[in-house]
Amino acid sequence: MATCAGDTSGEVAGYIPELAAVDPDGYALALCVHDGHVYAQGDTDTAFTIQSISKPLTYALVLSRLGTAATDAKIGVEPSGEAFNEVSVDERRRPRNPMINAGAILTASMLLPPVKSVDPGTVDRVFGDIVEFYSACAGRRLALDESVYRSEATTGSRNRAIAYMLDSFGVLDTSVEAALDLYYRQCSLTVTAADLAAIGATIADGGVNPRTGRQVMSHEVAQRLLSVMTTCGMYDGAGDWVTSVGLPAKSGVGGGIMAVLPGQLGIGVYSPRLDQHGNSVRGVQTCRELSTNLGLHMF
Ligand code: DON
Repeated sequence: MATCAGDTSGEVAGYIPELAAVDPDGYALALCVHDGHVYAQGDTDTAFTIQSISKPLTYALVLSRLGTAATDAKIGVEPSGEAFNEVSVDERRRPRNPMINAGAILTASMLLPPVKSVDPGTVDRVFGDIVEFYSACAGRRLALDESVYRSEATTGSRNRAIAYMLDSFGVLDTSVEAALDLYYRQCSLTVTAADLAAIGATIADGGVNPRTGRQVMSHEVAQRLLSVMTTCGMYDGAGDWVTSVGLPAKSGVGGGIMAVLPGQLGIGVYSPRLDQHGNSVRGVQTCRELSTNLGLHMF
């Protein structure tokens, strides 16, 4: 399999202090096929935080609970063409899509009660639902990295600014701090490359986890995720990604990339050095090589 060994370009995410401490040379690649079999190589035991790869999963949970119309009323599905942490809303003051931070924070907020004071027990309960759902997608129980969670929660002024801006627009219906807390926690769940591959295979399979056989989201929700990941998953690098790799995907600043070949397989890559878009340098290169060598490009 591809490794893109030797490429040391890019930088690990430094704006979350705890992420700056990871081994920059870590690398793992995993493929999960339709019968649930996982092929993996590299640092396959290395757990890293899921970060923005959580965004499609929480979006799936909100779509499943509230339905498409209610979700679309609050969050758009248009690519923003801007950085993931831009304060980006459309003319209706909706975040442009659920993959950028503004959309993802609002998505998480929609799982909380629509009141401005939310007690910590309620946030814990809703986070429990998130852990359940992500774990069902991965086919095993996922755990929180407390240090990364605390690190981001104490330094995340950009996300705080985004959330308070959404609140000032009157579009965030719950407690701003509770929404941020939930978002930071979801980003700090840990996964391996094999978990990302299994989650990708679940989405590829119309919402059925190929390891457990469980339908964890509807076919319609899985289809919506694939669409939004194709257009928005790699942020302002999405056009380059879609033309060269041709697969729906989502990246995270923890160094992970999850890519999906609909109906066929899920791919998980880990390499923490990031490009200027916040996407893993070797992760992108690996997916490009895999797509070319195995003929995975969808178009
Ligand atoms: O909100 C943040 O900044 C991080 N928790 C997640 C950002 C992220 O992963 C962007 N993706 N590449």
